[in-house]
Amino acid sequence: MQAIPTQERFPVATDLPYELKDWQKGYESQPNEYDYWIDDIEGEIPEGLSGTLFRNGPGLLDVNGQRLHHPFDGDGMIARIAFTNGRAHFRNRFVRTKGYVEEQQAGRILYRGVFGTQKLGGWFANAFDLKLKNIANTQVIYWGGKLLALWEAAEPHGLNPRTLETFGIDYLDGILKPGDAFAAHPRIDAGKDGGERLVNFSIKPGLSSTITIYELDSSGKLVSRHSHSVPGFAFIHDFAITPNYCIFFQNPVSFNPLPFVFGLRGAGESVEFQPTQPTRIVVIPRDPKAGKSVQMFETQSGFVFHHANAFEQGEEIYIDSICYESLPAVEPGSDYREVKFDALTPGQLWRFGVNLKTQTVERQLIESRCCEFPSVHPALVGRPYRYLYMGAAHAASGNAPLQAILKVDLETGDRQLWSAAPHGFASEPVFVPRPGGNSEDDGWAIALVYDSSRHRSDVVILDARNFDKGPVARLHLKHHVPYGLHGTWTPQNFAPV
Ligand code: FE2
Repeated sequence: MQAIPTQERFPVATDLPYELKDWQKGYESQPNEYDYWIDDIEGEIPEGLSGTLFRNGPGLLDVNGQRLHHPFDGDGMIARIAFTNGRAHFRNRFVRTKGYVEEQQAGRILYRGVFGTQKLGGWFANAFDLKLKNIANTQVIYWGGKLLALWEAAEPHGLNPRTLETFGIDYLDGILKPGDAFAAHPRIDAGKDGGERLVNFSIKPGLSSTITIYELDSSGKLVSRHSHSVPGFAFIHDFAITPNYCIFFQNPVSFNPLPFVFGLRGAGESVEFQPTQPTRIVVIPRDPKAGKSVQMFETQSGFVFHHANAFEQGEEIYIDSICYESLPAVEPGSDYREVKFDALTPGQLWRFGVNLKTQTVERQLIESRCCEFPSVHPALVGRPYRYLYMGAAHAASGNAPLQAILKVDLETGDRQLWSAAPHGFASEPVFVPRPGGNSEDDGWAIALVYDSSRHRSDVVILDARNFDKGPVARLHLKHHVPYGLHGTWTPQNFAPV
């Protein structure tokens, strides 16, 4: 595999880039729903930035004061920032899932969370209650004329993109049936001739696991669906695509259902990382009629939540992924807000090279700085690409909260970093191409940044070609948005009319 160089050019880290108490405040619930034009702006919203950024994440970290055990159990709240004519409008609303409505009416937790949130009353009150609450909190995407809030273990929820009103569970015009899952990491293949495809999957875990792949055209119609069985339990959050393949990393984990069934742990907490087992890379042809079979490879043990991108070169498939040495977990009885960042290993960016001919896998560390939430130019998903944007730690080494946005040039090794330390905490940057732009990084990296000094969030817009000059605009919201998960951009404008 050809080595990727490294060249950094940004200020040296301060001794104390953050304080834990500042970071913790970003995990306060935001129960309010807002709707306003943003008027507190530093800099200028770029001319040409027109469209809508949708973001999803847990809006509530408690139910009527009863704290959740893990943020991933929090009810999905959509935040929408619509850009039009140099202005920006903010709106947020909770997804009115069945569980959200019931719990808000009851004023208490009624459902066990996958990541360990329990009903009051100890194990006795939780044992044998295996029903899931579809919390719709992971991703939101506008596709086929629908705005869909996604959570990987259940069906999407449909929303009105202008009002964010919840329509209810959306079966994608019959593609899904009740109880089907639809993962929270769809990939959009820009296609060669404008024929965009949404490619997504679902996992049915078990002693052997079933991976089902869905491809939808731009109108939301099903183009293909095919299922494949892989040996062993599969805990797979994300995948990567190329024009010809879907690539899954089957993390080395085992699942012991007993603590979950008997009310002692959440289902997610019953997954145990197996450091002596290899990670399995599963390569599934996208066209089931092409007659190619599923191929499996092994590489060093590690845990991957997110892939940045993948592409083909001859017989080789390259996959760039954020990889952890082990699965970060919140133990029962512990408090996620008291996490000892130093005691955990950071997520780092690796490139995996899978050779389909020689059946070998090579890997290379690309970025050792703690990083997460990668984003690339939407037209280059699944294709050779040069620039990558990620949330990153302020300091170059060790594990720490995300406080910065990092741009990596995979061709020259050049890095650019914009940091919000010591009081700011970053989230996933979404790359938005400039209309008519003529280079891969001609556009903006947009991220929500929590400003703990004012307990509010900012929409930070960076010129993706040049982070050194700082944000071209920093839009101060009137309130905070709890740390979110994922978001997407659409050139469609959903500002109020
Ligand atoms: Fe994710």
